[in-house]
Amino acid sequence: MADADHMRRFWDARARENANYFVDNRVNYAGGDEAWFWKQGERDLRQMLELLQISPAADDTVLDVGCGVGRLLKALTSQVAATIGIDVSEEMVGRARANLAGLPVTLHHGDGTTLAPVADASVDGVVSLVVFQHIPDPQVTLGYVREIGRVLKPGGWAGLHVSDDPAIHAADYKMPSRLKRLLGRAPQGQDDPAWRGSAVTPDAVRAAAGDGGCDVELVVNAGTQFCLVRLRRRRP
Ligand SMILES: C[S@@+](CC[C@H](N)C(=O)[O-])C[C@H]1O[C@@H](n2cnc3c(N)ncnc32)[C@H](O)[C@@H]1O
Repeated sequence: MADADHMRRFWDARARENANYFVDNRVNYAGGDEAWFWKQGERDLRQMLELLQISPAADDTVLDVGCGVGRLLKALTSQVAATIGIDVSEEMVGRARANLAGLPVTLHHGDGTTLAPVADASVDGVVSLVVFQHIPDPQVTLGYVREIGRVLKPGGWAGLHVSDDPAIHAADYKMPSRLKRLLGRAPQGQDDPAWRGSAVTPDAVRAAAGDGGCDVELVVNAGTQFCLVRLRRRRP
């Protein structure tokens, strides 16, 4: 199993270095893109839900796994009744708490492998975007899939992003800007396993989902880094 302490230390360091950049590395590392960052969170959430044909109901409670600074949660709060975020990084959760003050959000600092603070059959929906692709051990991602089955109410849905492209996670995959990073003028940590992450196949997700009492209803972009999966919790 991956070292949860390592993931926590890595993401705490990235949050202190430049949280918004490591949540969405399309923003300028030097800053100045705050409004774009939040707008893009709305667009990314909408795109994922549209591709997976998910329409959250207004009275839903939705959990965001790997919530970072609250980019997707902020967009979700305008669509559903209640939201929950969980993240391995206390530094990220602290920033989410500040960013989402006054909004209907509950935030948890998680253990990096489970959804332990979230009760069984307590949420209507789950989202996770740009998180599992960074987890070094695919067994941790699959453990989260089983956990998602545990926390979903019967009939509940999940829209999950995984990478299904093993090549981009390989240690010899060429990351740009190595020299600049060594000189401290570019993002740090991009050769770290907690950034490089890992891939899981839709079949492996299907098996883990089944263990968690869920069915895979839809897979979009199989074979790519941007593979999306829709799960449904079985009814008794
Ligand atoms: C690239 S950011 C994306 C944040 C958010 N999903 C978004 O789209 O705005 C990845 C987030 O996943 C979190 N993360 C990484 N490994 C994790 C793990 N094992 N369990 C929970 N969160 C994790 C990181 O701390 C970070 O906040």
